[in-house]
Amino acid sequence: MGSRRDFSLSSTPSLLVILFCFGPFSHINAKVNLTGPSSTPINRDLYHTSDTLMEQIKALVHRHPDKLYMETFRSKNKGYHADMTVVTYCRNRKQIDDKSKYRILLSFGQHGRELITSELALRILSILSKEQSLPNVDPLSLHNLFERLVIKVVPMENMNGRELVEAGDLCERRNGRGVDLNRNWSVDWGKKEKDYDPYEENPGTAPFSEPETQMMRKLCLSFEPHIWINVHSGMEALFMPYDHKNTTPDGLPSYRMKLMLQRLNHLHCKGRCLVGSGGGSVGYLAHGTATDYMFDVARVPMAFTFEIYGDGTASAKDCFKMFNPVDQTTFNRVLNDWSAAFITMFNISTHELDELRSNTTASNLDKFVSIDDYLNGYLMDRRSRYEKKMEVLDLGMQEIRTYFRLFFLSSVLLLLMFCCRISKRIRPIISGTTF
Ligand SMILES: *[C@@H]1O[C@H](CO)[C@@H](O)[C@H](O)[C@H]1NC(C)=O
Ligand SMILES: *[C@@H]1O[C@H](CO)[C@@H](O)[C@H](O)[C@H]1NC(C)=O
Ligand SMILES: *[C@@H]1O[C@H](CO)[C@@H](O)[C@H](O)[C@H]1NC(C)=O
Ligand SMILES: *[C@@H]1O[C@H](CO)[C@@H](O)[C@H](O)[C@H]1NC(C)=O
Ligand SMILES: [Zn+2]
Repeated sequence: MGSRRDFSLSSTPSLLVILFCFGPFSHINAKVNLTGPSSTPINRDLYHTSDTLMEQIKALVHRHPDKLYMETFRSKNKGYHADMTVVTYCRNRKQIDDKSKYRILLSFGQHGRELITSELALRILSILSKEQSLPNVDPLSLHNLFERLVIKVVPMENMNGRELVEAGDLCERRNGRGVDLNRNWSVDWGKKEKDYDPYEENPGTAPFSEPETQMMRKLCLSFEPHIWINVHSGMEALFMPYDHKNTTPDGLPSYRMKLMLQRLNHLHCKGRCLVGSGGGSVGYLAHGTATDYMFDVARVPMAFTFEIYGDGTASAKDCFKMFNPVDQTTFNRVLNDWSAAFITMFNISTHELDELRSNTTASNLDKFVSIDDYLNGYLMDRRSRYEKKMEVLDLGMQEIRTYFRLFFLSSVLLLLMFCCRISKRIRPIISGTTF
C-alpha cells in the first residue's frame, strides 16, 4: 500500500480565480494572541497527533487489504510541497470499477485548526472496515449498504496547516504558506466581501494555485463522485450549495438535497444544525469554495459541507476550544452522532440517486447542461466520460478543457465589460485582482 505518485501540475492561468472550500467563521477575527492565558491547549488524551493518526489509519488499511487501500500524492508549486493521503474503501476491491456502485468523496481537515474532523475520518474508516460498530443499526442492512459504495476518504487534506497548529498556532486554518484552501477553487474565485479578512481567507494568487487544491481537483475529476462532503468544524450545520451566493440551486434534485439535510438534522443533530445554502445560512458569502466547484464545475450531483462541532461561547482567541470538543463526553458524542449521520446520509442518498438514475430522461438532464457539458461533448467522445479512461489521457483532456473554458469565459467577460462601457455603467461584475 502507499504508492506515491508525482503530480507535476502545470499552473493554470490566473485568469479566473475561484476557490472552493467553504470556510466558516471568516467573520471571526483571527489576529490571535497565542500566548494569552485564555487559550486552551490541544487535549492529547483525546486527540491523536497528525503522525499517530496517519499511523493508525495505515495500520487499519494493512489489517484490511481486501477492503481498503491507501495512496499518497505529492504536489509542489514554487518550492512549496504538499502531501495528501487518500484511503479508498470498496468492500471487494475487485469490484472497484463497477459502475453500478455509488462513488463518495469525503474530505476532512481542510482547515488546520479543525482537528476533530480528522478524528471523525478515522472513526468512519473503522466503521467501514467493521472494526467498530454503530449502535441501533442492523448489521445486515449496513453490510448491504456498504456493498453498493466506493468511498474515497482524505483524512487530512491540509497536513501542512495542521502541522502549524500542532506547533502552537492553534488558530491557523490556512495551508503551510497562508492560503485558505477553501477559497482557492475557481467558482467565483477571489471576490472579496466587505468583511473579507486576509488573515483568514487569503484565496491565493490565482485559482488552484495551491498544490492541495490541485490534488483535490484531480482526485475529484478522475473519481467522478456522486456525493461530495467537505467536513469542517466551527459550528453545527448541514450546508448545500451555494456558498458564493445567498440561494440554493433550482430544480428537483436541489429540493431533495434540502429535504435530506432536514432529515439528517432531525435524526442526528437534534434539530440544532443550520440547514440550507452555505451563503444563505452562515451570515457571509464565501468565494472560491470547494463545494461550489464540486457542484457547479465538477457536476457532483450531491455536494455538501458538514460542520460537525462548534463552541460559540469560546473566546475568539481560544481556537482549540472553539473548533474542537475539549472533554471526553463531548468528543465521543460528536464522533458517535456524526458517524451515524454519515451512514444515514449514504443510505438516503443512494435511494435518492437510484430514483434519479431510473428517471434520467433527456429532459431531466437538460437542467444540468453547463459550459462544461458543452465542452465535454465538443472535445471528448461522450462515451469515454463514463468509462474508466487512462489518467494520462484524462489529464491531457482536462488541461485542454480548462484552457478552452478559460478562453470561452474570458471572451464572455470581455464582451460583458464592453457592453458595460457602452451603457456607461460601471458594475462590479468581477472583483478581485486578476484582471
Ligand atoms: C498576549 O497575552 C499575554 C498575556 O495576557 C501578554 O502578556 C502579551 O503581551 C500579549 N501579547 C500581545 C502581542 O498582545
Ligand atoms: C437504510 O434505509 C432503510 C429504509 O429507510 C432502512 O430500512 C435501513 O435500515 C437503512 N440502513 C441503514 C444501514 O441505515
Ligand atoms: C490559490 O493560491 C495560489 C497561491 O497563492 C494562488 O496563486 C492562486 O491564485 C490561488 N487560487 C485561488 C483560486 O485562490
Ligand atoms: C421519477 O418519475 C416518477 C414518475 O414519473 C415521479 O413520480 C418521481 O417523482 C420521479 N423521481 C424523481 C427523482 O425525479
Ligand atoms: Zn473550516
